[in-house]
Amino acid sequence: VNRSLLTIAQLGLSELNGLLFSSIQLQKQNAKPPLLAGKTIGLLFYENSTRTRLSFENAARRLGATPLALAVSTSSIQKGETLLDSARNLAALGVNAFVLRHPDAGAAEVLARGQPLPVINAGDGMHAHPTQALLDAATLLERWGSLENKHILILGDVRHSRVARSNLELLTRLKAKVTICGPGSLLPSQRELAAYPGVERIVFPESALPHVDAVMVLRLQKERQTAGLIPSSAEYTRFWGLTSERLRLLRKDAQILHPGPAIPGLEICAEAMSDPRSLILQQVETGIFVRMAALLRAFGLHEVSGGSR
Ligand code: CP
Repeated sequence: VNRSLLTIAQLGLSELNGLLFSSIQLQKQNAKPPLLAGKTIGLLFYENSTRTRLSFENAARRLGATPLALAVSTSSIQKGETLLDSARNLAALGVNAFVLRHPDAGAAEVLARGQPLPVINAGDGMHAHPTQALLDAATLLERWGSLENKHILILGDVRHSRVARSNLELLTRLKAKVTICGPGSLLPSQRELAAYPGVERIVFPESALPHVDAVMVLRLQKERQTAGLIPSSAEYTRFWGLTSERLRLLRKDAQILHPGPAIPGLEICAEAMSDPRSLILQQVETGIFVRMAALLRAFGLHEVSGGSR
């Protein structure tokens, strides 16, 4: 379980900084050290993905490992095979570590506890998406050097977002000031927010947009919402979308982030996505190097506070 990466909360500060440092170093060098030659990485994606799956695959290849993806929709999972049995069979086929995306919160922990190979959580339900938060932080660190006292607005469907949960944990630990904003029905409860001291909760974005250093826009997670949480998509865009009008409220040096997939015209306008302040595609590129660092950690080949372990 120790070499598994399930949440940001499990990581000590030195390990957190080590992962970010490794990722930034790998990106600077654009290095492809074949440190995982001979290893096979099992990609278990029970939920759709473009960026996470392909960047893990790319990261594994760059490190000399072989990615082996289980095609869930055409696999024996459809006949009722369990997660643990599927994983045990992949291990028998030569897999040395797992990357798991799953619609259920806690699935990555079940897999990590149920068999001996390391597991990297690539998103479990509404719970956690640690490598996304790490790549978001690494993207901002490349720009700013430090996140201390930087003000980041997380805008949108925070309640259903594993990206937001992992970011609330990570950004606050890196001493950023975080404000969340969205309709009350799409924000976490005050009780849940108590776990993240200092995080401010606002309903309308206009008061914050002119002041923040970055805005992270989130997709409406319709697949996780129950009916009746927002009146309509058009009204959501009108009050909470990063529209052209709201884009003009941002400072000239503010950054725009989105974990993807973005739905232009709904939570973010196309103009914001291609604005010079947008880091959306840099996030995707940085994701390769964060995932290389996470894979190295799974095999005990990672940095702790900048020193090689
Ligand atoms: N951000 C993210 O997890 O994207 P994918 O769902 O495409 O992997």
